[in-house]
Amino acid sequence: MKMTKNQHARLSVAPMMDWTDRHCRFLHRQISRNVLLYTEMVTAAAVIHGDRDRLLGFDPTEHPVGLQLGGSDPAALAQAARIGAERGYAEINLNCGCPSDRVQSGSFGAVLMEQPDRVADCVAAMIAAQPVPVTVKCRIGVDEQDPTQALPRFLAAVQAAGVTRVIVHARKAWLQGLSPKENRDIPPLDHDLVLAMKQAFPGLHISVNGGVQTLEQAQAMLARGFDGVMVGRAAYHTPMAVLGQADATIWGGAAGPTAQQVVERMVPYAAAHVAAGGRLHQVTRHMLGLFAGRPGARAWRRALSALPPDAGPGALELALAQMRAPAADAA
Ligand SMILES: Cc1cc2nc3c(=O)[nH]c(=O)nc-3n(C[C@H](O)[C@H](O)[C@H](O)COP(=O)(O)O)c2cc1C
Repeated sequence: MKMTKNQHARLSVAPMMDWTDRHCRFLHRQISRNVLLYTEMVTAAAVIHGDRDRLLGFDPTEHPVGLQLGGSDPAALAQAARIGAERGYAEINLNCGCPSDRVQSGSFGAVLMEQPDRVADCVAAMIAAQPVPVTVKCRIGVDEQDPTQALPRFLAAVQAAGVTRVIVHARKAWLQGLSPKENRDIPPLDHDLVLAMKQAFPGLHISVNGGVQTLEQAQAMLARGFDGVMVGRAAYHTPMAVLGQADATIWGGAAGPTAQQVVERMVPYAAAHVAAGGRLHQVTRHMLGLFAGRPGARAWRRALSALPPDAGPGALELALAQMRAPAADAA
């Protein structure tokens, strides 16, 4: 089935720094054929001046995958978006939600919630520079902003600039006083406000993000009227529970693989990575949660965590065998 990009956006895995690298995305793609994936945030400056193979390289089987950019300079973002599109990314996303100090001092990320006109200039330049869709990931507001005012003002600005799809992390970011981690938990979630935006902006494809733990919850969100749901931490920690049946449930496709089949699919990928000079751990660190909530979960985590730094790809099959040994979880 050939799908449009917006159909893939019904369920997506959130961009997560240090987590959604290419190995993580390859793993997620073995679990779901259709879920939309995103890179970690890469700054426009890094894309322009940095090591592009390292920052932007990905395996074609990861598709569809979007590149998330950080920045606030329209010309630099346009150039970075063009480079991303040339590299084959299916979408370029602008980060307007990250609250970290480093990002604030560069004046991008969540502080951009206060500068909708600047964001409009950025996305307009990104759209003009290259052919793939430009999307925005934002918060409902920052600091003392009233989200019922700030969010529609922000969305109206990006829509007027040509954006047709957004992802809203349904909580404020506090730019002073909370760490990035606290900013993902402490400000309360307001999914209802994001749903109200769907009524106010019927032509905008709106994905909701924040606090979704299971595929059932994601489905319930879609049934409420959201166009898409983006799942972050739960997709990372419990990938089978969130993504395992997503193809069948969300897109009416085939039943998903078992966790064991996923491991088997990862073996040749891991072998190729090691053969190219990489470390097995760089791949396996994303696989700890594969058996979460199932028999053998602890034994699997233990076996993967115990891999020596120079482990060869055979260690992955060995870990699977160890996990399957009788009473592996009893110790
Ligand atoms: C480790 C980690 C790194 C993150 N890095 C990014 C990032 O690079 N860009 C971004 O837009 N959001 C980032 N986020 C936020 C997530 O994309 C998402 O908005 C947030 O975790 C809320 O969704 P969840 O409750 O489903 O996890 C990160 C979250 C985590 C846990």
